[in-house]
Amino acid sequence: MDLDLSGARLGRLPSAFLWGASTSAHQTEGGNTESNWWHLETAPDSPLTQASGDAVDSYHRYPEDMQLLADSGLTAYRFSIEWARIEPHPGQHEMDQLAHYRRMIETCTSLGMTPVVTLHHFTNPWWFTERGGWRQPGAIEAFTSYVETVSSIVEDVPWVCTINEPNMVALAANLFSTAQASSPSRGLDERSISAFALDVPADDVARILGEAHGSATQVLRQRTDARIGWTVSNQAFEAETGCEDILAEVQWAWEDRFLELSRSDDFVGVQSYTVQRVGPAGPVPHSPGPDSTQTGWPNRPDALATAIRHTWQVTGGTPVLVTENGIATADDEVRTEYTGRALSGLLDAVDEGVDVRGYLHWSALDNYEWGDWDPTFGLIAVDRTTFERTPRPSLAWLGSLARAHAETSAQALSSADSPR
Ligand code: BGC
Repeated sequence: MDLDLSGARLGRLPSAFLWGASTSAHQTEGGNTESNWWHLETAPDSPLTQASGDAVDSYHRYPEDMQLLADSGLTAYRFSIEWARIEPHPGQHEMDQLAHYRRMIETCTSLGMTPVVTLHHFTNPWWFTERGGWRQPGAIEAFTSYVETVSSIVEDVPWVCTINEPNMVALAANLFSTAQASSPSRGLDERSISAFALDVPADDVARILGEAHGSATQVLRQRTDARIGWTVSNQAFEAETGCEDILAEVQWAWEDRFLELSRSDDFVGVQSYTVQRVGPAGPVPHSPGPDSTQTGWPNRPDALATAIRHTWQVTGGTPVLVTENGIATADDEVRTEYTGRALSGLLDAVDEGVDVRGYLHWSALDNYEWGDWDPTFGLIAVDRTTFERTPRPSLAWLGSLARAHAETSAQALSSADSPR
């Protein structure tokens, strides 16, 4: 890889820059039986080909997962709390589950890593979906009450993400509409699961999620010392010739209205994987090509710098935390190459003055890609029959960048301290 990722260049990052990896509860824990996704996966007429099942058993194996990340040199781990475990029935709060997630936070900290905790990563408790999901009267109050409950265990967590990718949640809202509550997959076919990614985020749900984020932020500000933000999926839109006006419309509907709500937040999570072309009819489906990844997306690491710059510009200067960036590939050298190029773009944005506080790779582990086990995003491979973890070389490589950055920062500090 012909890129400058030397200690000297990394030294331009703030000394507290987070180097880490991300996961979500439903994609890794296993046995998340009270969630809406579990219902969709296990419905007799489910359109999903694969179910999460035991996932990669991180519910039990999280200490091993965290140890591997810490051993590599990484300094942060982003994971999520599963609302369906905390509140499997309305108003019934499970203290043992709260204690479980508190142990995760403490384990992470005791290994010298900074926990970045997400409170909602796509899944809802089944009862919340049955009552109409985000569109039900009282949805914001129900979410706020859950946030009040978990605020007791995140008091000292430095970074809390309220809602993961509200723009994707608003876009997928129809997947779990009230009409489907009795038969989760009614009205869906296999094509619509993948095609829903090109829908427009629903306006009503986008508005409700914005209010839910505001309400959660208020609770967390009163009860914790956390920096609070949400994470937004960024598409790095590219206009086909003559489609610039359409791009502007699409960009507002998909991203900007969510980013505008981050203006007064402590940080905004940038989540970037690839670019998205916009043609006369809006977003254009990705066509297969030699550089297609396992998810069918073009291998475009430059998307991250575009995403960071766009986010910085729309928020008017809210600090950026890259909360997800990665590639689904069977070839770990491709993963390293992609990540190196993405990081080089991040460093360019920092050189231009963007305040970037950290880089969290998606994902720490191979995991359940929402209906599909085939894409492998992990820095760590997992054997799904034995649950054995095998770190890939990309984990050691990313950890070595974290170490090089720490060394340069320490040297800078000691030369600043030494008498002249
Ligand atoms: C989501 C993850 C997902 C990843 C790759 C993001 O949109 O937050 O849950 O696995 O993209 O598709």
